[in-house]
Amino acid sequence: MGATGLSLIAFLIGHVSGNLLIFAGEHAFNAYGHALISNPMIYVAEAGLLLLFVSHFVTGIVLTKENRDARPIGYQRNDRAGGASRKSLASTTMILSGLVLLAFVPLHVNAFKFGAFYESAAEPGVRDLRRLVIETFSAPAYTAGYVIVLAIIGFHLWHGFGSAFESLGVGYSKALKRFGQALALIITVAFISIPLVIYLSEGAL
Ligand code: HEM
Repeated sequence: MGATGLSLIAFLIGHVSGNLLIFAGEHAFNAYGHALISNPMIYVAEAGLLLLFVSHFVTGIVLTKENRDARPIGYQRNDRAGGASRKSLASTTMILSGLVLLAFVPLHVNAFKFGAFYESAAEPGVRDLRRLVIETFSAPAYTAGYVIVLAIIGFHLWHGFGSAFESLGVGYSKALKRFGQALALIITVAFISIPLVIYLSEGAL
């Protein structure tokens, strides 16, 4: 879980950085998208990404089931122990935030990767992916849905980064945990800024 989780976080850092090019104008964003899809290595990268997602989800579900089976009769009280207890809302809802991600990713890929193909007027032969993203986030329902789901994903990362190092045997480190939380916050705010700025600028972007 730790290794696949950290690899997926690396993907998200790359993905959000590329997506922020939407604020750098039509050419920058569409040229980035075009460079990605016209690279023959894209199929290898996509297959690797799919494998990472699937193994992360499957391990997460198996692990949750094993945890439940290990304690067939649940705790009578589910409070935080306080003090040395590192239990948090994010850590106890990882399976739920993970299931939200599991539902989100296929819908998201379907909406963008397999969404409407507009050809760029300025650069014939190049997909105008920026137009599709801007059109999508001009709809209030899409924007609200994305903001909520991205916040839930941020919650998953908030606990996931530090926890991944524990799974990998590094042990508990407060500094690493804080670093992971800061990283989760930056990734989430950067992602959320995209639908929000597009929606609030009312197509003027
Ligand atoms: C504001 C937030 C986001 C925006 C604007 C966005 C935008 C996009 C766009 C435009 C594509 C299509 C790329 C192409 O076909 O060239 C894409 C693909 C994809 N996105 Fe996102 N994305 C966002 C958040 C996320 C998040 C949070 C995840 C994962 C948790 C994610 C996972 C993916 C995946 C797996 C693909 C398919 C990549 C491929 O097969 O090449 N995205 N996204």
